Amino acid sequence: MSSGPAITLRELTADDAPSVLALLLENRTFLRPWEPIRPEPFFTPQGQRSALRRCEDDRRADRAYDFAIIDRATGGMIGRITLSNVVRGASQSASVGYFVSEAHGRRGHATEAVRQLLAFAFGPADLHRVQAAVLPRNEGSIRVLQKNGLRDEGLARRYLEIDGAWQDHRIFAITREEWPAALGERRYPGYTAFDAE
Ligand SMILES: CC(C)(COP(=O)(O)OP(=O)(O)OC[C@H]1O[C@@H](n2cnc3c(N)ncnc32)[C@H](O)[C@@H]1OP(=O)(O)O)[C@@H](O)C(=O)NCCC(=O)NCCS
Repeated sequence: MSSGPAITLRELTADDAPSVLALLLENRTFLRPWEPIRPEPFFTPQGQRSALRRCEDDRRADRAYDFAIIDRATGGMIGRITLSNVVRGASQSASVGYFVSEAHGRRGHATEAVRQLLAFAFGPADLHRVQAAVLPRNEGSIRVLQKNGLRDEGLARRYLEIDGAWQDHRIFAITREEWPAALGERRYPGYTAFDAE
């Protein structure tokens, strides 16, 4: 058994469409309260392929960075984490969103995925601020953010349309100055996506 984090992040590509679709279908009921309503074609191989092609375009254009959360023991995809809404210039900020499959929950995987994502955001992506919007009743996600040092900045009214309703969200954020690893290492050893470049 190798030591180190149980999960790693890997860039998503259009070839991941079958695995992403399987994960979404398996977790459809679990994810419904936390996600926008998607049109039916989204839940098809073609729908996922085009969505993931858009992710590839977004990565090339520095708009968003999508990663699969990979269980290192099996190599299987157990979730997804995205750094989106990248704003450059004086802002240098982005938003993080994620999910971990119900079957793999409560093992610290989301906490570790956010940790690795922050290493990417404040390392290779050279951002200054990362924020997350979370429903006030999403205790698990709030815990994940707090454990990674994100601060509660308050309630944003009717912030996102989730599960068919415009819902209030709590905004959590962290800037580079608050990120512990920023004091030392620039690269996180468990993070592989950019090591190949
Ligand atoms: C929220 C979610 C990402 C948590 O993933 P996870 O891998 O289970 O999280 P972790 O194992 O890292 O748990 C972190 C902490 O949250 C707690 N937690 C996890 N799920 C919880 C829940 N449903 N209720 C209360 N606490 C929960 C864990 O016990 C742990 O706390 P501890 O370290 O104090 O013991 C996952 O349940 C999920 O994908 N939910 C649906 C989608 C979603 O809500 N995404 C986030 C939108 S902002």
